[in-house]
Amino acid sequence: MPTPSLPLTVNGQTFAIQAAPETPLLYILRNDLALNGPKYGCGLGECGACAVLVDDQIARACTVPLGAVRDKKIVTLEGLGTLAAPHPVQAAFIAQNATQCGYCLNGMIIATVALLHHTPAPTESDIRAALRHHLCRCGAHMEILAAVRAAAQS
Ligand code: FES
Repeated sequence: MPTPSLPLTVNGQTFAIQAAPETPLLYILRNDLALNGPKYGCGLGECGACAVLVDDQIARACTVPLGAVRDKKIVTLEGLGTLAAPHPVQAAFIAQNATQCGYCLNGMIIATVALLHHTPAPTESDIRAALRHHLCRCGAHMEILAAVRAAAQS
């Protein structure tokens, strides 16, 4: 039986993806569409490195099957801003030097964008709750928190 073609809308563009519906969205983004902002960390929904926005809600692309997002609007890190015109959250992370190795950065930024979309004036506990399940092994936490606070005020 031939592999079905499924429509997928990412960063405002619609693609016809030939893959089984159960294929993890992360594999399609990275391997088929060369969108490498979302990272493969644990592959189990635990670390947050693969986060994307699905209809403005944060989702872990390693656990989302392609077939579940065929009618949704997906935004990856690449869809937020550009080098010349970064998204305000990206600009805040740059200004606060809120990164070290950078592996968690995709998830931290996507989580912040999702947080500010729903809670434009977050409290400290809102910020910490939104980032709680995004793992950073380098210890850039204080700079990341400062960046989120700055983004909330921009
Ligand atoms: Fe998806 Fe870790 S790679 S949550």
